[in-house]
Amino acid sequence: MTPYYADDTVTLYHGDMRAILPNLDIAAADCIVTDPPYGLMHTSGTCTWDTWPADWPTTAATITRSMWCFGTMRTFLDRAAELTAAGWRMSQDVIWSKGSGTGVQADRFRRSHEIATHWYRGQWRDIHHQTPRVPSTRPPVTRPVVHRADSIRAGRNDIYTWKPTGTWTDDGTRYALSVITAPNMQGRSTHPTEKPTGVLTPLIEYACPPGGTVLDPFAGSGSTAEAARKVGRRAVLVEADEAYCERIARRLAQDALPFGASA
Ligand SMILES: C[S@@+](CC[C@H](N)C(=O)[O-])C[C@H]1O[C@@H](n2cnc3c(N)ncnc32)[C@H](O)[C@@H]1O
Repeated sequence: MTPYYADDTVTLYHGDMRAILPNLDIAAADCIVTDPPYGLMHTSGTCTWDTWPADWPTTAATITRSMWCFGTMRTFLDRAAELTAAGWRMSQDVIWSKGSGTGVQADRFRRSHEIATHWYRGQWRDIHHQTPRVPSTRPPVTRPVVHRADSIRAGRNDIYTWKPTGTWTDDGTRYALSVITAPNMQGRSTHPTEKPTGVLTPLIEYACPPGGTVLDPFAGSGSTAEAARKVGRRAVLVEADEAYCERIARRLAQDALPFGASA
């Protein structure tokens, strides 16, 4: 299969992901990080792509066992049975808090978040997952470290004496929270639902080992590839709309860095 674009870190294919994924020349991706069409907008006028491709979770399951998928609560309620039938089990959800809201309906809250859910197949212990650590907002914690020095028998009980052997101080980081705040791309996007790299990098770091490969079968603007590069991962993208493939190729060619170089 001939890629639409390829460099040291990213390969992009043009076409329907259900036709492309079975023919990829990688045996497996470490994870998928993707934002499929939610099927919630009217597929008319300028937005002709917002149709959930039937059965795509089954195709995705042939190439990886770990997947972050963006959507709304409505998407996941509507599609839970399809995801489960394809063998996916949900591990957790995170909230993307995206700043200024979208939607102008007066009868509901102005929407300023989306959900990303993590799915896996098989045994959890076999799935790569590394929660990113972020700088702590609390002052460093120091605790004494003690070891059992002695014990004496008193009736039916053992009484222990403990000896301090040093102190432990935290490293100034904590596990990243499940609400990720990253301003949306309003005014600077090349795709109507473009995700900022700020929400993608923690998901990639969680599910893909350094140097591994992330697959995005609904690439849109190519933001997943840019995020993958930032954190030293490779990316394989698929996009059905050739106009977006062209934009992705231009975007990636502009930022191409040698693999492993930090952005
Ligand atoms: C929600 S957008 C993804 C936006 C992307 N996350 C970004 O940050 O730019 C979904 C994309 O999937 C593409 N798409 C829809 N059906 C597809 C299919 N069957 N195979 C591959 N791409 C498809 C659409 O053209 C659209 O660009």
